[in-house]
Amino acid sequence: MKTVAGVYRLSLGAAEKTTPVKLFGPEGAQAPLAEGGPPPFGAGSITSRVTKRGFVIELPMKNDEDFYGFGLQFHSFNHAGRRRFMKVNSDPAADTGESHAPVPFYVSTAGYGLLVDTFRYVTFYLGTSGAKGSSKDCVEPEKEHREFSEQSLYALKRAKNERRILIEIPHCHGADIYFFEGPSMLDAVCRYNLFSGGGCLPPLWALGNWYRVYGGANQEQVVKLAKQFRKDDMPVDVIGLEPGWHTHSYSCTYLWNKALFSEPEELLRELKSRGYHLNLWEHVFVHPSSALYEKLESCSGDYEVWGGLVPDLADTKVRDLFGGYHRENFVDKGVSGFKLDECDNSDFNPSNWSFPELSAFPSGLDGEQMHSALGPLYQRTIEKTFRDRGIRTFGGVRSSWAVAAGSPFVLYSDLYDHRQFIRALVNSGFSGLLWTPEVRSCADSEDFIRRLQSVVFSPQSLLNCWRIPNPPWFQTDIEKNLAGEQMPESDCITAIAKKYLELRMALIPYLYSSFWRYRLEGLPPVRSLALDYQYDDRARSVDDHYMFGDSLMVAPVFRGEKSRNVFLPLGEWYDFWTHERFAGGQVLAYETPLERIPVFVKSGSILPLAEPVQFVDENGIFNLIVFCFGGGEKHFTLYEDDGISLAHEKGRYNTFLLVQDKAGKVNAARTGTEPPRYDIKEWKLIDGESNAPKPTFGGVVNWKAET
Ligand code: GAL
Repeated sequence: MKTVAGVYRLSLGAAEKTTPVKLFGPEGAQAPLAEGGPPPFGAGSITSRVTKRGFVIELPMKNDEDFYGFGLQFHSFNHAGRRRFMKVNSDPAADTGESHAPVPFYVSTAGYGLLVDTFRYVTFYLGTSGAKGSSKDCVEPEKEHREFSEQSLYALKRAKNERRILIEIPHCHGADIYFFEGPSMLDAVCRYNLFSGGGCLPPLWALGNWYRVYGGANQEQVVKLAKQFRKDDMPVDVIGLEPGWHTHSYSCTYLWNKALFSEPEELLRELKSRGYHLNLWEHVFVHPSSALYEKLESCSGDYEVWGGLVPDLADTKVRDLFGGYHRENFVDKGVSGFKLDECDNSDFNPSNWSFPELSAFPSGLDGEQMHSALGPLYQRTIEKTFRDRGIRTFGGVRSSWAVAAGSPFVLYSDLYDHRQFIRALVNSGFSGLLWTPEVRSCADSEDFIRRLQSVVFSPQSLLNCWRIPNPPWFQTDIEKNLAGEQMPESDCITAIAKKYLELRMALIPYLYSSFWRYRLEGLPPVRSLALDYQYDDRARSVDDHYMFGDSLMVAPVFRGEKSRNVFLPLGEWYDFWTHERFAGGQVLAYETPLERIPVFVKSGSILPLAEPVQFVDENGIFNLIVFCFGGGEKHFTLYEDDGISLAHEKGRYNTFLLVQDKAGKVNAARTGTEPPRYDIKEWKLIDGESNAPKPTFGGVVNWKAET
């Protein structure tokens, strides 16, 4: 059955009552989907059956087919030939498919995407197993004498038999699967995101820098730090409070701890007057002394977590209760968002870290389903509290699942491998997820800068300093930071950090436009080269650089590296820092002094960069320098609205089209009647082969760190 253009549903067996699409619909019916190519195989080639263990679906697969997606994956990139187990797990230490945010959705190089609409711990076998007998007529007869080598022992005999995709969903008798047409993987991803309601649009301020303060900080210390940032011109938009603000945090009371925060309203006023937004840490497990406890007791799961209730958020009434409390006590008082922690289960932590799979919830969900549903339900509950007041929010979350592209929350993790964090960033864009490789613990100041350089090129520029009272540019060692001991290289590191925080501010108009495209077209703001350059085999294996918006390709550097190889896809590219031009289709050996992360601009791009400000002022104007890279006609659309409300959903926004025509002439045209947010100060045409450093904003290019 065809549901909307380019999206098909196939109902197999008896589907369960509660599924992601049924809960979070509306099946994309309202989404403006475009027509695409036909699905790669007909429904007739798909089989399904009920087994003792649950429900099995089999689909055809080509021998050379590659697969991407499955949510926030840290350990691998192309999943062909692998088994993927979609189980929410806060410690995805091995490459099993488990994750904070596994998503039963993949895209295939055969030109389609597939979603299994379930909250169950579904397993995908992507060409791992042939059916009995299917290899019999395909393998060469073995020689009588064989040399022994370990290699030959395990060498995979690529069977010429038909390979299949096997999908097993436990404890059910059927499921709906959704096909998303291509023809390219990018088309399928965009359709999936539009089907999910379109990507989220963060408030403009949320694209600035985030700083989560020390868990034990009190009101005076928070205000002192906030004043210090402004004094030192370190741009920060959002201050985040960690567990200490609750009277009890594990489980949560959602009550201000007056020992640390004697006058929360005063804190909000102080922060607001300096241009900050406040974000509060919490999780969903409700402490007995919380005002919510009694109301939620009868509508929670039958097991506790940290002595608290697990509210049954699958019930609308429960969402309204939980959300209503937040609206009244925090949103209406000026809190701008929340960090939704600990909703991602845990198998390896001792003690009562989450509820068991055998739990039962009044809505009829069991613990397994609730583990998958909790993250997305929590996000929707909190988002609605802001929506009901006509404003946008943006926050952090530790778990997600399918059909979540519209939720304004960014995933983060306690795992801390920088390389894995970047792979997760590259992978997140396949499945409608946002991810931040947050800066937290750092091995040393080099590690800090390398992590900072990549986080400013991510959906959320987040410094999570919850374990240190002083900023990481003052001291990266936790013990020394706690002791107030400044590191010797602090001045130099502070200067580099400042330039990168400013760079983030310079990128806001460009990034905001990328989010608009996410919302309107489903195009992920951060995405793998495999999506933009699917037909180039080399791009399909790159898991450590990515597209950031339409024009920038970012190749993060890891601690200890003095240079790195950068793959430039076909076309022409300009070094972001020097404006040197390079032919695409090559691997470039790139020197990476500490102050430099390799970033390349696609030729044919218009890149607006703003003069950095300290924070996004509600009514402020961004002064732009507009760079035109390469020859030929090109354009870029900026979006202007109030940046905070939902008025844009009613069409209240301007488009501001930047154009360079074939002859090189530039022009900007605004449509709409909203107050302008952008003022073009200068156009710069970049179309040469110069090696000379050209400061693009504030001078990072010329700046040399004394390391
Ligand atoms: C973790 C979270 C950290 C921090 C900490 C506080 O679960 O990932 O960022 O918030 O809790 O207890």
